[in-house]
Amino acid sequence: MSDIARRSALALALAAGIAGSAHAAEPVERPWMDRSLSPDRRADLIVAAMTDDEKFRMIRADFGQVKEKGPNPPGALNGAGFIPAIPRLGLPFLNETDAGLGVTRDGSDHKGAISLPAGLATAASFDPAVAHAGGRMIGGEARGKGYDILLSGGVNLTRDPRNGRNFEYAGEDPVLAGTIVGAAVKGIQERHIVATVKHFAINDLETGRNTLSSDIDPVALRESDLLAFQLAIAKGDPGSVMSSYNRINGTYAGEHDWLLNKVLKQEWGFKGYVMSDWGGVHSGAKAALAGLDQESAGETFDKEVYFDKPLRAALASGEFPKARLDDMVKRIMRTLFAHGILDDAKRDPVAYEADRIVARNALEAGAVLLRNEGGLLPLARKGQSVAIIGGHADKGVLAGGGSSAVADVAGDPVPGLEPTGWPGPVRYHASAPLEFMRKLGGKVSFDPGTDPAAAAKAAAGADVAVVFVTKWAAESFDTPDLALPDNQDALVEAVAKANPKTVVVLETNGPVKMPWLDRVGAVMEAWYPGSGGGEAIARLLYGVTAPSGRLPLSWPKDEAQLPRPAIQGAGLNSKAKPADNVDYNIEGADVGYRWFEKTKREPLFAFGYGLGYTSFAYSDFAVDKDAKGNPVAHVTVKNTGKVAGADVPQIYVTASGAATRRLAGWAKVALKPGASRRVDIPLEPLALARYDDKAGRWHVAAGSYSVKLARSATDVAGEKTVTLGESFPVVKAP
Ligand code: BGC
Repeated sequence: MSDIARRSALALALAAGIAGSAHAAEPVERPWMDRSLSPDRRADLIVAAMTDDEKFRMIRADFGQVKEKGPNPPGALNGAGFIPAIPRLGLPFLNETDAGLGVTRDGSDHKGAISLPAGLATAASFDPAVAHAGGRMIGGEARGKGYDILLSGGVNLTRDPRNGRNFEYAGEDPVLAGTIVGAAVKGIQERHIVATVKHFAINDLETGRNTLSSDIDPVALRESDLLAFQLAIAKGDPGSVMSSYNRINGTYAGEHDWLLNKVLKQEWGFKGYVMSDWGGVHSGAKAALAGLDQESAGETFDKEVYFDKPLRAALASGEFPKARLDDMVKRIMRTLFAHGILDDAKRDPVAYEADRIVARNALEAGAVLLRNEGGLLPLARKGQSVAIIGGHADKGVLAGGGSSAVADVAGDPVPGLEPTGWPGPVRYHASAPLEFMRKLGGKVSFDPGTDPAAAAKAAAGADVAVVFVTKWAAESFDTPDLALPDNQDALVEAVAKANPKTVVVLETNGPVKMPWLDRVGAVMEAWYPGSGGGEAIARLLYGVTAPSGRLPLSWPKDEAQLPRPAIQGAGLNSKAKPADNVDYNIEGADVGYRWFEKTKREPLFAFGYGLGYTSFAYSDFAVDKDAKGNPVAHVTVKNTGKVAGADVPQIYVTASGAATRRLAGWAKVALKPGASRRVDIPLEPLALARYDDKAGRWHVAAGSYSVKLARSATDVAGEKTVTLGESFPVVKAP
C-alpha cells in the first residue's frame, strides 16, 4: 500500500473524522490528487471542497508531544506539531519536527538521529554544496522517520556572539547566510519534506525573546536580517516561514502586517505559508489579517487557541473575511502539493551510519583553524605522542541545547550533565575524538582535565598536548559574556606552560575570549561538531583532510568591542529583568565586520579568516560584466604549498562614499599541491544595492565601486574599480 493510502486508511480506521466534517458527504472524486495539475490548481480544488470546520483544522497544528504521558492521537509522532487527518478528503495526518541540525524526535523507527555540526560550521564551509548535502541528509532522515515538515532553515543573523542560538544559524553576513540556508532548504525539500525558514524576523537575542522589541530602522532591517531571509527564500523556495517571538519596532512579528503581508508575501512573492513560533500568537483576526497563516501548538503554548474560537467568531462577525481563511488554507495546501508531501513519495529507512559521514564531512569543511604557530598542525601520524585533555574527548563532542538538540542514534555518552531539564538536557554526540585520534596517531593518552596540575603533568610527558575546551549554549538564554566556563582558562594556561606545543580545540557556540592565545601553538574552532565530529576533528588534526573553514562571523577581542557591551538579563539563571527593547539602530545594517570597519575596531579574528595546511597565491584578478551587465570577478588561485587544500577567495564591494564594505561573492576552491584554477565569482546584485524606501525597490546607483579580492574581511589581496550603470535588481521567491 502506498504511503499516502496507508496513512489515509489508518486515519479512516482510527479517527472518527473531525468535528463537523461528518455531515459533509465524501466527495466522489479527488481531482486535487491529479499530479498533472499545478500546485495552485490542486490547492484551489481542495479548498473549494472543504467545509469551514476542515479549513479551521488546517490552520492550527497541535503540539505533537501533548500526549507524551498517554497514548498519542492516531498518527502523531511526538514531534513539535501534529495535524490530524481529514479522511473525508483523503488527507493524511501531518507531523512536524525540529530542526536545523537534524531530527530531534525519535519518529516512527523509535531511534535517535544524526546531527549535523552547528549551522555556523556549515556556514564556515563557505560552500553551498556542503549545506545542500546536509539539508538532503536531515530531510531524508525526517522523511524516513515519518515526518512531513521540518522546522529547519534558521537564518537569523549573528548580531551578538552571546546569542544562545547562534549555533543554529549561519553567521553575520546576509549574503553568506542566505546562500547557505537557501542551499540547505533546497536539499531538505528534495526529500519531500517542507522546510521552514525561521525566525522571521530579527530574533537575534534570546533574552526576553517573547516580548523583546527589536528596534531598527526599516531600511537597515531590509539591508541586513531581511536580506538574509530574502535570499534564503529566493534560493531555497521553502514551503513555510516561521514568524518569530519578538516584537519589531513594537509590533509582534506574528501580527506584523508590513513584515508578513507587505514584504514577505507581496514584495518577495512568497507563496508558502507563515506558521507561528510555539507560543508566539497573541490574537486571532489581528494576526490572521496581518499575514499569519497557521497557529502552532496554541493549545499548549498560547493563552488560548486564537485560530479556533476567536477566529471563528471573527468570521461570523465579518471582521475576518472568508477569502482570507481560504487564502490561509490554500497557502498550506499549495505547499503540501508543491513539495510532494501529499503524493506517493516513499519513506526509505534511514541509513544512519552513511548519514554520520555526511555530518563528518560538513565539519571537515567548516572547522576553522585560527592559529598554527610553526606548523604545529597537522600532527605527525608516526612517532609523536599526544596527551589529549578535557572536554569529554574520550566519549564524544558537545551539542548546543534547546529545541534543536538532536539525540544521537548511538545514545548520549555523557548523560546527566546540568541542566537536565529545559533548555537541556546537555547532550554529547557519540563520536569520540580520542577513539579516532588513536586510530590515526596511535600514541595517545587521555586526561579528563578536571585538575589542571594533573593535566599539565600529562602534557609535559607527551610531545604534543591537545586540549578540548567546551562552552554550552542553548535556546532561551544568552550567555552574559564570552568567557570560557569551569576554570578552563586555567587548564589551558597550565597545559601550555608545561608544553608549549599545545593545540586547543574549541567546541563552542562561536567566539570566546582566549587570554592564553599567545602561549598556545594552535587553535581550531570546531563549533558544536555534530554526530561525525570526533572523527572529523581527528582527521583534521592529523591532516587526513586540511582545514578550509572561514569564520562566518567576526571574533571580537572582548565584549567591549560589541555594539552592546552588556545584555540585560542574560544568563541561564539570571534573575534580572530583561529589557523591553533592544536598540539595533546602534549598528543598523552594519552588522559584524561592517561594525568593526565603521567604528575602526580591530577584532581578534576577522570575518572570513581561517588557516589551512598549505598556501595559496592569487594572480590575474579582474572584474568584468556578464551579458546582463552584472559584475563578475575572476582570479587565478594556485596552491603553492606541499599538501592539498581548499581556499576561499572573497570579494567585497564598497560603493563610492559608503563607510563599509560588503561581501558580494566568494568561491571555494579545492586544489592539489602545485595546481591552479581560474574561478569566476559573480557578485550578488543586492550586495551592491541599497534599499530605496520611497520607491519601494532595491537600487544600484550609477557610479564607481571598489571591488576587493580578499582572504578575509580585513586581509585584502587586490583591488579594482568597476563602473556600474543604474539598475533596480529584483529578487523574488521562485
Ligand atoms: C523554537 C522554534 C522551534 C519550536 C518548536 C520554539 O521554542 O523557537 O525554533 O521550532 O519551538 O519546537
